Amino acid sequence: MSTRITSVNGYRIWDSRGRPTLEVVVRLQDGTVGHGIAPAGASRGSHEAIELRDGGSRFGGLGVDQAILKVNGPVRVALIGMDAANQADVDARLLSLDASPTKSVLGGNTTVATSLAVLHASAKAAGLPLWRHLSQGGPVTMPLPEVQIFGGGAHAGRRVDIQDFLVMPVGAQSFDEAMCMCAEIYRHAGLLMQERGSLAGVADEGGWWPAFTSNEDALEALTLAIDRAGYGQGQAVISLDIAASEFGRDGRYRLALEDKVYDTDAWLDVLASWLSRYPIASIEDPVAEDDAAGMAKFTQAFGRKIQIIGDDFLVTNAQRVDQAVAAGSCNAVLVKPNQAGTISEARAAMQAGQRAGWGTVISARSGETEDVAITHLAVGWNAGQLKVGSFARSERMAKWNEALRIERESGGAIPFVGASALPTHRA
Ligand code: PGA
Ligand code: ZN
Repeated sequence: MSTRITSVNGYRIWDSRGRPTLEVVVRLQDGTVGHGIAPAGASRGSHEAIELRDGGSRFGGLGVDQAILKVNGPVRVALIGMDAANQADVDARLLSLDASPTKSVLGGNTTVATSLAVLHASAKAAGLPLWRHLSQGGPVTMPLPEVQIFGGGAHAGRRVDIQDFLVMPVGAQSFDEAMCMCAEIYRHAGLLMQERGSLAGVADEGGWWPAFTSNEDALEALTLAIDRAGYGQGQAVISLDIAASEFGRDGRYRLALEDKVYDTDAWLDVLASWLSRYPIASIEDPVAEDDAAGMAKFTQAFGRKIQIIGDDFLVTNAQRVDQAVAAGSCNAVLVKPNQAGTISEARAAMQAGQRAGWGTVISARSGETEDVAITHLAVGWNAGQLKVGSFARSERMAKWNEALRIERESGGAIPFVGASALPTHRA
């Protein structure tokens, strides 16, 4: 068997924040090599797979020596001799080594980097681009991008409370046109900040630094940037990642910038007033991860009008998606492979969303690398949407540029999904 795994090795490399992260290199019988890299979040859900880090003072405790030992120890022993072409088997074997709900034995960084390395190796051995290897001949589309224009929250020193101010170019006819639109909006947003004397570099995911006097001020600026770019008639719309778990707990939401505290109902009223005044088409984590009632209430009120994405609330977990579908909370799922820990589990969470007619958004983390696997997941799994951060910094641009290459090389054979990726645009 040419795709038999013959070696598995873990190494320390560095992510986009200059922090250590894990790279796994898998070698197959036929000489094929696959590399998988773990990304890292800053605003993590409490139920997602944990990162195994060394602790102590070196690298702020973020060393990955322990994770490397797991790869070169139990993971290597378990995977050598397995068929890399059978991703489900490989991922099941990883799970058999760590049955804990948050991968606390091996670490989600260990399992996701290994799972990805095997995936890359098997696609290469098959001589296929990763997206095609993943699609298995099924339907594929170029995803609707969500592009961050202003950073915030944990990605910008909590300068504003809301984490991501993003745009979705729903009026584009191709992925290429979508990127052109996002480039213009990003550029106009930068010019706007310059005019205001508040241009001060970029946040962790490349969005402009959020030097605003209120959270709503950022929304106003984003709306103006869309207008100035010429897309104010609905060609580009706003998506917000509130990441409310970062400032809300036990039904209390505290906006530090405005020094205001809201209970869940009052907070939902704030969001409702934003929805009535700005062209917002999608909101992620509007309430905290422990506020299931708030999530259901918000979805009941606005789920027909806008996309409501669960990130920390669902942590890329198929069971949680099924429960949310039953409870009527959310109408879309964010899919972060390292939240789940393996590619197979991430795919199961996405499919649970697809079965329910939800929106499905493949997402990067705030700590990223040059790895472009998620672009291929979005195309090959026909996810419909892709969120990788802003329109700057090469760990982000590598992923957008990869999508452009896939579109170009398909010679127009892969259609751009456009607004129909949104659950609110389904029949
Ligand atoms: P993280 O956040 O990668 O910093 O955890 C991204 C998000 O909340 O979508
Ligand atoms: Zn999020």
